[in-house]
Amino acid sequence: ATTLGASAAATGRYFGTAVAAYKLSDSVYSTILDREFNMVTPENEMKWDATEPSQNSFSYSSADQIVSHAQSHNMRIRGHALAWHSQQPGWVQSLSGTALRNAMLNHITNVATHYKGKIYSWDVVNEAFADGTSGARRSSNLQNTGNDWIEAAFKAARAADPAAKLCYNDYNTDGVNAKSTAVYNMVKDFKARGVPIDCVGFQSHINSASPVPSDYQANLQRFADLGVDVQITELDIAGSGTAQANTYATVVRACLAVARCNGLTVWGIRDSDSWRSGDTPLLFDNNGNKKAAYTSALDALNAG
Ligand code: G3I
Repeated sequence: ATTLGASAAATGRYFGTAVAAYKLSDSVYSTILDREFNMVTPENEMKWDATEPSQNSFSYSSADQIVSHAQSHNMRIRGHALAWHSQQPGWVQSLSGTALRNAMLNHITNVATHYKGKIYSWDVVNEAFADGTSGARRSSNLQNTGNDWIEAAFKAARAADPAAKLCYNDYNTDGVNAKSTAVYNMVKDFKARGVPIDCVGFQSHINSASPVPSDYQANLQRFADLGVDVQITELDIAGSGTAQANTYATVVRACLAVARCNGLTVWGIRDSDSWRSGDTPLLFDNNGNKKAAYTSALDALNAG
């Protein structure tokens, strides 16, 4: 096929992008979005600071804009993110203990209920493990409410929206390493104890310090073998030209080689839309022209 979304769909997968609500009125942006992608992730609009700016007072207008755009263009939606140590509103940062735990559960219940039936998969918990070799949980206010906070979050999300796939999402978990193995052990434990979890998201922010690991595909496969789906959730690859193009193809091929890899999402449309625009890490240049990386990703999808 001739677009990313249609080519991914021919393999039973989706091809998505992060979207910012305020850019939907930019016609260069929305033309590419509507032509190429069949999944969207709100880049910031579903985060805690955006959806519950003060306690128990919910604000969905920006996220709803993305959801209605997606629905009217037959795109699926990845919800991002229900519980995360970052981008918490100030009132959350000043809570602890039972009050924080209950606030988190109330947040998850309200947001997942608001979008019930509309979300393909939710990042229920984002970035809860520490970097480095400890394999430990990240220290955070949520972790301080008790080690069971992650499973409590997944149970609340399942109760609110039983149809959504529930994902754990993280970075620096793309290859087999101490951090990804800690996540792997958590997923294995959740499956053994019947804690609801359906998928694991691999952010895949790639640069020269953090290249595609040689065991990237094997790592996706070991999670799939636990009985969960896997998704590439925030893909961007620093660089340009042939090297960047080849790396995009490598990532696409890894997903296509894993039956339970549902699809890929790039973290923005044009290089200028990226959270790290200086790395020119996306598939379209600042003017919305297709880069070599685009053609390479498309060709890899069509070869699958
Ligand atoms: O909305 C405010 C605006 O009111 C204010 O005037 C402006 C001034 O700085 O800031 C705006 O908020 C910014 C927000 O993006 C919306 O543009 C924040 O400062 C900025 O920190 C925030 O950055 C986002 C970042 O997450 C925050 O952690 C990026 O756009 C977003 O791409 C990035 O995405 C994360 C994923 O959620 C999780 N994985 C890593 C990934 C990259 O960091």
